[in-house]
Amino acid sequence: MTGAEGVTRTAVVYYSGTGNVHKLAAAAAEAAEKAGAETRLRRVPEYVNESLAPEFTEWTQAWEENAGAIGQVPAATVEDLGWADAILLGGPGRFGLVAAPLKHFIEQAWPLNARGALAGKVMSSFTSTGAPHGGQESTILSLNNVFYHWGGVIVPPGITDEILTAPSNGNPYGVSSVSGRQAIPGRLAEQVTEDNLAAIAYQARRVVEIATALRLGRSLAPRG
Ligand SMILES: Cc1cc2nc3c(=O)[nH]c(=O)nc-3n(C[C@H](O)[C@H](O)[C@H](O)COP(=O)(O)O)c2cc1C
Repeated sequence: MTGAEGVTRTAVVYYSGTGNVHKLAAAAAEAAEKAGAETRLRRVPEYVNESLAPEFTEWTQAWEENAGAIGQVPAATVEDLGWADAILLGGPGRFGLVAAPLKHFIEQAWPLNARGALAGKVMSSFTSTGAPHGGQESTILSLNNVFYHWGGVIVPPGITDEILTAPSNGNPYGVSSVSGRQAIPGRLAEQVTEDNLAAIAYQARRVVEIATALRLGRSLAPRG
């Protein structure tokens, strides 16, 4: 059992190619920490060393800039998932699906899942896409689909707080930002709004609150 005594352990695990999801993840981790959780912010690294599209020079520069900026964030390991009571998983939408590095990381959790080590943890997801209708829902749902397989207790933001109705929010499945059509070097993640940051902070607090209630409730419940 993880964290049965002491504080709730929260892992914010994310992949970000050009900084948008990183900004959301950092805000989530800060909010979880402030809510009293022991928190790990962990970056899923690239699994290739070259830009996906070297011919897109601006995107490639932005990707390199982001790699430098987030290099100090510890790399995620599946052990971080096993350690946590609550998992916030984030990644950009790519063709409406989970980005390949994050999918690769998720598949490495197979042994943990096979021995039931992820079951019963609180899980929640978030994303960033280029366009408002560019696949936020399908990306979030593909992450949540993984949570079904892991036996997670999925905690979406819903519309449970006014911040979620702000114009740049509104996705009840998981907080999502819209970055626009291009990643611009020197201006990474500038489209992540203050309302997006407030919303992801709210989502993280909600996750910690529910994970704490479950953790404490389980420590009282008789075991069969
Ligand atoms: C290969 C690839 C596929 C993408 N597919 C989509 C998509 O289907 N819909 C969309 O709105 N944006 C798409 N985007 C844009 C990213 O989702 C968007 O730029 C996001 O904000 C990036 O987050 P990040 O900066 O954390 O990597 C795609 C980007 C790449 C590189």
